[in-house]
Amino acid sequence: MPSQPTPPVDSARLMSIQSYLLAEEDKHPGATGRFTWILSAIGLATKFIAARCRRARIENVLGALGTENVQGETQQKLDVIANETLLSCLGSRAGLAIVASEENEEPLLLRTETDGERPYIALFDPLDGSSNLDTCGSVGTIFSILQHDRRADSPHEAIRQPGTQQVAAGYVLYGPSTVMVLTTGHGVQMFVLDPTIGSFLLVEENVRIPETAKTYSLNEAYTATFPEEYQRYLAWAHESGYSSRYSGAMVADVHRVLVKGGVFMYPPTQKAPNGKLRLMYEANPMAMLVEQAGGKAYSGLQRTLEIEPEALHQRTSVIMGSAAEVDHVLDHLRG
Ligand code: AHG
Ligand code: MN
Ligand code: MN
Repeated sequence: MPSQPTPPVDSARLMSIQSYLLAEEDKHPGATGRFTWILSAIGLATKFIAARCRRARIENVLGALGTENVQGETQQKLDVIANETLLSCLGSRAGLAIVASEENEEPLLLRTETDGERPYIALFDPLDGSSNLDTCGSVGTIFSILQHDRRADSPHEAIRQPGTQQVAAGYVLYGPSTVMVLTTGHGVQMFVLDPTIGSFLLVEENVRIPETAKTYSLNEAYTATFPEEYQRYLAWAHESGYSSRYSGAMVADVHRVLVKGGVFMYPPTQKAPNGKLRLMYEANPMAMLVEQAGGKAYSGLQRTLEIEPEALHQRTSVIMGSAAEVDHVLDHLRG
């Protein structure tokens, strides 16, 4: 069948992320704009990070910095640049009380609240999959927004909230194009950066994840060290005609699952018995997006968003994606 011609951009419906957020704010009488202001800081920071990633080879900022982050992982130069960019853009936003990042051991208390408004907390993985940069592979930024409970004794205590409490979550994928996928708890919206005008433009409202697709995404080289139930799932998937895709950047892999369906997993391994991914700024925001798009997200047999966190940098295993595909994995975990 001849392919359909691509429809031209509908300039009558052009909607930037700023316009989208302001229109959303209008629907909530009493909204003060602080939340919108925080999301716009993330938009600005990620546009800057996208540009730095694109110029990384030319600016000679590829490769490792020679330092380790709090989790003993080698920091890439761009991990640090991305972190500083987000901290600097978010730091000036009055509605933000606390920021916490993969690259900083401690959460940062920006301000103790003043004017009666309930302030927010932002958690982020500034650059996910950063080792992909050396090979011009996709990387991303992941963020999670919580409300600050002023009764908390310390920033650590304030951020210890389960993923169900997130008021917004999203990621930005720096690939052939720069894509922002965002939820504020009312479905999932997708924006693409138009570099010619410097704006994220709305390209899809209410993104829905396909119900099923025979694709799994995990680091299959670790199979021998996965718990047996995962090995049985993989044997079943091999017999059932599945395909696999894995880029080494969670943002890129989950984005593909969101668009095309399938299941993304990082099971417990011998090296990382609790899983490798971080609950607060990797698993939880991605789990919220996947659920808001109609999919499922689990850590073992527990819904990821219901895990009661103990620490900012705690790790978890993850199984997330199309509902039917997550169910196939859970069926194997139940035995
Ligand atoms: P980060 O670069 O922020 O440390 O995250 C890397 C993560 C995640 O993006 C990816 O899914 C996973 O690590 C890949 O780990 P393996 O190399 O062990 O498969
Ligand atoms: Mn990461
Ligand atoms: Mn990272």
